[in-house]
Amino acid sequence: MSDLLDSEHLTGFVTGAYVVAALLFIAALAGLARHETAKQGNLAGMVGMGLALVATLLLAAQKAELLGERSLVVTLGLVLLMMAIGGAVGAWRARTVEMTGMPELVAVLHSFVGLAAVLVGINSYLEYEGYADGVHDVEVFVGVFIGAVTFTGSLVAWAKLSGRMRSAPVALPGRHWLNLAVIVASLVLMVWFVRLDGDLGLGLVPLLLMTALALLLGFHLVSAIGGGDMPVVVSMLNSYSGWAAAAAGFMLGNDLLIITGALVGSSGAILSYIMCKAMNRSFISVIAGGFGSDGATVGEARDYGDHREVQAAEVAEMLAGARSVVITPGYGMAVAQAQYPVAELTRKLRERGVQVRFGIHPVAGRLPGHMNVLLAEAKVPYDIVLEMDEINDDLAGTDVVLVIGANDTVNPAAKEEPGSPIAGMPVLEVWHARDVVVFKRSMATGYAGVQNPLFFKDNTQMLFGDAKDRVNDIVGALG
Ligand code: TAP
Repeated sequence: MSDLLDSEHLTGFVTGAYVVAALLFIAALAGLARHETAKQGNLAGMVGMGLALVATLLLAAQKAELLGERSLVVTLGLVLLMMAIGGAVGAWRARTVEMTGMPELVAVLHSFVGLAAVLVGINSYLEYEGYADGVHDVEVFVGVFIGAVTFTGSLVAWAKLSGRMRSAPVALPGRHWLNLAVIVASLVLMVWFVRLDGDLGLGLVPLLLMTALALLLGFHLVSAIGGGDMPVVVSMLNSYSGWAAAAAGFMLGNDLLIITGALVGSSGAILSYIMCKAMNRSFISVIAGGFGSDGATVGEARDYGDHREVQAAEVAEMLAGARSVVITPGYGMAVAQAQYPVAELTRKLRERGVQVRFGIHPVAGRLPGHMNVLLAEAKVPYDIVLEMDEINDDLAGTDVVLVIGANDTVNPAAKEEPGSPIAGMPVLEVWHARDVVVFKRSMATGYAGVQNPLFFKDNTQMLFGDAKDRVNDIVGALG
């Protein structure tokens, strides 16, 4: 062991391992971009992370050995113990989490990255206190700031997504001014912090004051954002957690952490941008908050008339006589785990010569790609699963649209009611089809809490009940 750590080659090995790991992380992102290569992408990421862990562990062991044999044993023992505990908890959660609970899990994981950046930052200040340069001071300050905002922001996102906190935006009077005041105060504290360097202990005062302010800012920023915008918030926090990790990489002098953080930070930012575009909203207006609610909204007060109900056997008849069918799944399909009977229904209809395609809204479900993953799991062929933009123009020529557990993503109020909280959001324009069947359990609203006029249109019929049971009924009726 000792020879290995003493070896001049260790630094060379670690640098090489970091370069290979960085390339594997880039390959992972490239692989994850398509269904067909997602598994290989995941594998590349896992191998890269394994390599990075081994190299970093060797580096830590080398440092610890310089302080003596006992220090080496204690350091390695602690690191391995923590890795075993963290790995066991992570493996357990990953195995037990439902697909629908994934965004909450991701949000809570982001909060760990934020907390780690805060702790690394404060530790790095204490370690170099008195002899660090201004650049290091700024790195510490910015790293702790981003980490603290990410920490509380992610906790609020987790609480909102898991229903532990109301999803309605918390709109304090003058909230933008409050945020601005916190940012200005943090800048002033940073100047004080950098100027204090050399005064042992005193620097902790501005650092901890800023940490408290940044924790409040993260809490306030995300509380002010409504449920409908949570997908963007989760990917924005993903981006923040990447920048927090990159900042920690600068403080620890770890190049791989800088690269990995930058990859996560920029891919999260790109994803947030794509989502904002998909919802026709500007990034700034999302961050400023206020969209989406869980209760009384403009649409709800309106009287849209009566809805019509239909039974599974009639839907089976309608489908048997159709030439083209489009299925638009949503969160309800995930809750009901209806993807397997939906795949079976698709197979049966295709055997009868009916053209069946899927229309996927970019934010259907509760996380990006949610529906695609479920459909792939049930072995629905990729080539009939189309994006919203690819299918929207074809809906007018479609005989039957089956809306399975989707609501906000097929809401015509987004197009027709300028006062609606979801006005301007692009939606699947299913109402242009000849017949629409909506699968849901009640007349309740969807995630954004907005009533859906689609349910009251003349060509729409409601098929009530659990989506899995109702699709099974239809499959049974088709024989
Ligand atoms: P939602 O608007 O949430 O509607 C889901 C519908 O499924 C509800 O109307 C519900 O009605 C029905 N449902 C629930 N369980 C069911 C079951 N067992 N059987 C049958 N129906 C069931 O879904 P959506 O259209 O997919 O829209 C997604 C929403 O979530 C958007 O507002 C989006 O902004 C938001 N969001 C998205 C993400 C991402 S990244 N995709 C993340 C967070 C939030 P009943 O209760 O009457 O059954």
